[in-house]
Amino acid sequence: MIEIKKITAFETIMVRHPVLRLGRPIETCHFEGDDLSTTWHYGFFLENQLVAVISAFKAKNKLFNEENQYQIRGMAVLDQFQKRGFGEALLNYCENEIRIANGNLIWFNARETAVGFYKRSGYEILGDLFEIPDVGLHYILFKKI
Ligand SMILES: CC(C)(COP(=O)(O)OP(=O)(O)OC[C@H]1O[C@@H](n2cnc3c(N)ncnc32)[C@H](O)[C@@H]1OP(=O)(O)O)[C@@H](O)C(=O)NCCC(=O)NCCS
Repeated sequence: MIEIKKITAFETIMVRHPVLRLGRPIETCHFEGDDLSTTWHYGFFLENQLVAVISAFKAKNKLFNEENQYQIRGMAVLDQFQKRGFGEALLNYCENEIRIANGNLIWFNARETAVGFYKRSGYEILGDLFEIPDVGLHYILFKKI
C-alpha cells in the first residue's frame, strides 16, 4: 500500500539524515524555516513505512520575478527504495499542492547528481554550478507552474 501525506518537520529527519546528511550531526538535518506555518512537509509511505520526504518553503528568490514562489528542499528517498518511481510521485504531489496554493514558480538548489531526475519533470537549470559547503556541487533549478 502506498500513501502520500503531510508530515511534521521532525518526521523528515528519519529520511533526511541517512540520505542527505549521513555521518553528520542530527542538527544539520534541521533547515531554517522548517517549523513555519507556510512550510509544508510531505512523506511517501510504503506499507506504513516512511521511505521518502520532500519539503516546500514559501521563499522568494530575487533571480525570478514571479510573486508566489516556493522553494523545494530536502528531497530524499531512502537508498533501498530509490529508482522505483517514489521520488517522482512525491515531487509531483508536492508540485500539485503548490499549484493549489496558487504558487507560480518552484525553484531550488539541486545536487549536480540529481539534475537528471528533475529535468525529467520539466525543471530547467539557471546559471552555473556552485558549491554549497559540506554538501557539494549544485545548480539552481526552476519551473514555472
Ligand atoms: C534523486 C532522488 C530524489 C530520486 O528519487 P527516486 O525515487 O530514486 O527516483 P524515481 O525512481 O522516481 O526516478 C524517476 C526517473 O528519474 C530517473 N532518475 C532517478 N534518479 C536520477 C538521477 N540521480 N539522475 C538521473 N535520473 C534519475 C529514474 O531513472 C527514473 O527514470 P525511468 O523511469 O526512466 O527509470 C533519490 O534518488 C535520492 O534521494 N537521491 C539521493 C539524495 C538526493 O540527491 N536528493 C536530491 C537533492 S537535490
